[in-house]
Amino acid sequence: EKGGYPSFMEKEINDQPQAVGDTLLGRSDVEGRLTLDELRIDPEELKAINKIMVLACGTSAYAGQVAKYAIEHWCRIPVEVELSHEFRYRDPIVDNHTLIVAISQSGETMDTLMAVRYAKEQGAKVLAICNTNGSTIPRESDAVLYTHAGPEIAVASTKAFLAQITAAYLLGLYLAQLRGDKFQGEIKDLLTDLAKVPAKIQQVLDNSGQIKELAELMADTKSVLFLGRHVGFPVAMEGALKLKELAYIHAEGFAAGELKHGPIALIEEGQPVFVVVPSPRGRDSLHAKVVSNIQEIRARGAKTIVIAEEGDDAVKAYAEHVFYVPETPPLLAPLLTTVPLQIFACALATAKGYDVDQPRNLAKSVTVE
Ligand code: F6R
Repeated sequence: EKGGYPSFMEKEINDQPQAVGDTLLGRSDVEGRLTLDELRIDPEELKAINKIMVLACGTSAYAGQVAKYAIEHWCRIPVEVELSHEFRYRDPIVDNHTLIVAISQSGETMDTLMAVRYAKEQGAKVLAICNTNGSTIPRESDAVLYTHAGPEIAVASTKAFLAQITAAYLLGLYLAQLRGDKFQGEIKDLLTDLAKVPAKIQQVLDNSGQIKELAELMADTKSVLFLGRHVGFPVAMEGALKLKELAYIHAEGFAAGELKHGPIALIEEGQPVFVVVPSPRGRDSLHAKVVSNIQEIRARGAKTIVIAEEGDDAVKAYAEHVFYVPETPPLLAPLLTTVPLQIFACALATAKGYDVDQPRNLAKSVTVE
C-alpha cells in the first residue's frame, strides 16, 4: 500500500502531481469558467461577502496564508488568516457578510471545529476545504470544497497541503468570476497554468536526487532557518515545520523582510538558511530584495540554500546550493517551491533513522482542544 516507497510520507510526496490534478479535475468547463456548483452557497450571498477569514491550524493554516495573497489579489476582498484556537478565544468581528473558510485535512481538528461553531453562532457563512469526505467540519459547514488528495496516512501533511492550496486558488478564482467578468481572460489563463502544475511538480520530484544528498550531509545540523517573502513566506514556515516535526531539528521560518528587525542576529558562520526566492518576473523589486537578503546573510557566514525559478541566474553567485523549480505565475509558485523542502525534511529524518510516518509526540488528527 506504500506503492513501493519505504514510507507513506515518501509515497505521499510523490502522489502530489495526482493530488493537485485530481483537485482541479471537473471544476472548470472548456471555456475556462469555474463550475463550483457543488458549493451550494447562493452565488448572490457569496457576492455580498466583504471579508474572508481563514481558520485552520498548522500546515493547513499555511495553506490559508498562501490563499490570502491570491484571493486578495484576484478578488480585492480582505482576507484574514487566523489560527483556529486564537480566533475562538478573542472577540473576533464576524457577521453575516463574513465568509469563513475552514481548512482542515482531517475535518476532525477540534480547534477548528470549535472555531467553526463559534463563527456560525455569529452569523457567518462557513465553507470548509477538507480532504476527508463526510467528516465533522464539512458536515457542520454551510458548504464544502473537497480536496481530492486521497487518504493521507503519514502524520506530517504533504499532499493535503498542496491540494488545499489548489482548492483555495479555485475558490479565489470562482469568487473573482462571480464578482464580474473583468478578469475572465485572466482566470482562464490561470486555470491553464494550474493545469500545467502537476507535470511541473513531477519535474521537481524527478530532480530531487541533489536535495536528498544535501539532506544526508546535513544530518548533524542543529538548527536551520527558512526565509521567504510574499507567498514564499508561508512556504518558508511550512519548510521549517516539516523539519521540526520529522527530524526534531530546531527550525524557524521568517519573512525575509524581518531579517534586519531581529533574526539576522542569529546568523553566524555555517548557519544553514533556506531562501525561497520569488520569481524575477514577479512583483516590483521583490526578487532583488530577496537576493540582497541572501547577500547580507552570506556575508555573515550563512550557508545559503536557495529555491529559485529556472533561469534565475542572479542567485547563483550567492548560493551554496540552488534548487530550481519550473516557471509558473508567481502566485502559484508555492505548489512547486514547497516540494524540495518536504523532500529535504523527509530525507534528513530518514538519514537520522527516524520514523517519518509517525513522528514522536504527534497524532494525525488532533481531536482535543
Ligand atoms: C503538519 C500537520 C499539522 C496539521 C494540523 C491541522 O504536518 O500535519 O500541523 O496540519 O494539525 O490538521 P487538519 O488539517 O487535519 O485540521
